Amino acid sequence: MTTNLDALVSPEAPVRTPVKRTILMCKPSYFTVVYRINPWMDPAVPTDTSLAVAQWQTLYDTYIGLGFDVHLIDPIDGLPDMVYAANGGFVIDNIAYGAAFTYEQRQPEGPAYMDWFRDNGFDVRAPKEINEGEGDFLLVGDVILAGTGFRSASHSHEEVSAIYGRPVITLNLVNPNFYHLDTAIAVLDTSPGSGNGHIAYLPSAFDEPSLAILRERYPDAVIVTEEDAAILGLNSYSDGYNVVIAARAKDFERQLRERGYNPIGVDLSELLLGGGGVKCCTLELRR
Ligand code: ARG
Repeated sequence: MTTNLDALVSPEAPVRTPVKRTILMCKPSYFTVVYRINPWMDPAVPTDTSLAVAQWQTLYDTYIGLGFDVHLIDPIDGLPDMVYAANGGFVIDNIAYGAAFTYEQRQPEGPAYMDWFRDNGFDVRAPKEINEGEGDFLLVGDVILAGTGFRSASHSHEEVSAIYGRPVITLNLVNPNFYHLDTAIAVLDTSPGSGNGHIAYLPSAFDEPSLAILRERYPDAVIVTEEDAAILGLNSYSDGYNVVIAARAKDFERQLRERGYNPIGVDLSELLLGGGGVKCCTLELRR
């Protein structure tokens, strides 16, 4: 007998296989919004730090439940955005490329994360160029998709290419609401059977030349709605089968199910007030 759930999965959907992830997170013990460096942030709107911690804890517990190896960096008082660990660096092959933040409010986070990488056995490369780590660098199979336009400088793309010896594809972001690449693209499946890899993206976040690249490289991509993107629905994290997404991204959830994934909704409404979601709170550590 077919269950309702099976009926939602299209028969051609590939079989997706989860791969255990190792990640770094930072508890939002000092989270608040006291400055505005992206359009989501409004210091006049009150934040609730204990609610932020409780929501973040649900994300942490979800990852533990999926069998992930979750590492923690100690939050620092006075660095309210440190919860967005994705911006703390970019880590492949045990090499940690440090972050150099655009805005001075976040600049002390760069050295703090580099200290953590060093203490935990990573080969740390201090950055010469402005870059905000995995917020703007996404590994998709053998290539690195790299965002620029609002935060990471395009010169950082060359630096990353030289450090990792992998091809880097520059993508230009044009909508200030989607100022980091991980707010406009979700990496879903990079297993060998997935060709160039499977991603989801929001077309209107990119300029025409970048869109042409995405269309050609990822003809099979999930195209998300403006509504889902508007709650940072794309800012999600996949292990190849389980995809942790914003609880309110209902159409994205349906699309993922149809494509053979297991979407898991988590409510991070409080952290959205700082302009971040699931992926922003998650930095992948690749040894
Ligand atoms: N308030 C933070 C900032 O504007 C949010 C960072 C979100 N992180 C991300 N990976 N998209 O820098």
